[in-house]
Amino acid sequence: MKVIVCASRKGGSGKTVSARHLAVAALKGGVGRVAAVDLDPMRGLTRWWQRRPEDGLELVQLAPPNLPSTTHEDRQAVALAAAEALERAVPALRAQGFGLLIVDTPPAADQIVRLAVAAADLVLVPVRPSPDDLDAVGETADLVTAAGCPMVFVVNSATKKARLTGDAAIALSQHGTVAPAILHRSDAYAASALDGLTVQEADPRGAPAHEVAALWHYVAKRAGVLAREPVNKITGSPELKVVGGRARGKAG
Ligand SMILES: Nc1ncnc2c1ncn2[C@@H]1O[C@H](COP(=O)(O)OP(=O)(O)OP(=O)(O)O)[C@@H](O)[C@H]1O
Ligand SMILES: [Mg+2]
Repeated sequence: MKVIVCASRKGGSGKTVSARHLAVAALKGGVGRVAAVDLDPMRGLTRWWQRRPEDGLELVQLAPPNLPSTTHEDRQAVALAAAEALERAVPALRAQGFGLLIVDTPPAADQIVRLAVAAADLVLVPVRPSPDDLDAVGETADLVTAAGCPMVFVVNSATKKARLTGDAAIALSQHGTVAPAILHRSDAYAASALDGLTVQEADPRGAPAHEVAALWHYVAKRAGVLAREPVNKITGSPELKVVGGRARGKAG
């Protein structure tokens, strides 16, 4: 089982969007059981998952049950407890046959992010191509680099043909590896989330779906999830070779 952590100190960069789209891409791609862990006290991934039709994507609660969760402070404590449990949970989930664990993290809670990064095989850092977002990248990169974890930047919510997009990729490459797959800005991300879906489910032939497929292809290779060629990018059918997780043919 591989662990991919979506992390960025910058709020709204696309951590949760990336987490849910990669989780579904992995599930459709047949890497075996796919688990998601939501370490953000805001619980955006959890709420999306609760709206989602049951399809085998498993949301794993790592905090001890019955902790209070009324206030934001409560939820912060729950998220920290879950982050503290993550390292021990990884071998247990692996033993249960999970092929991939995707972890979403909050924008600014240092300790939670540190614990998540420590458990990661790959940290994915989404970055919007704006000067503000680029200025904030160094902090995240330092945190991940200090942990010695492989990291990849993903340019997210880019405008097609905008000069800023290319400039952003160049600026990011000075901090680390930039994924060759870019996610362009599309209302399809928010629209599909209303029903707990992803762009690849709402419109499998649309440009955002192809971009997500390309990102998954790249990220899976980087994380060591896939052996060679990816799933059929359009249908997501699971005729692929798998290493790192268990080859189970069908997800679920
Ligand atoms: N490529 C995109 N195109 C259009 N909208 C996007 C795109 N990526 C993200 N968004 C939107 O931007 C908002 C923030 O995205 P998301 O929640 O994934 O960011 P985040 O990094 O998880 O934020 P936070 O730091 O608050 O947890 C959401 O409303 C999401 O739908
Ligand atoms: Mg988020």
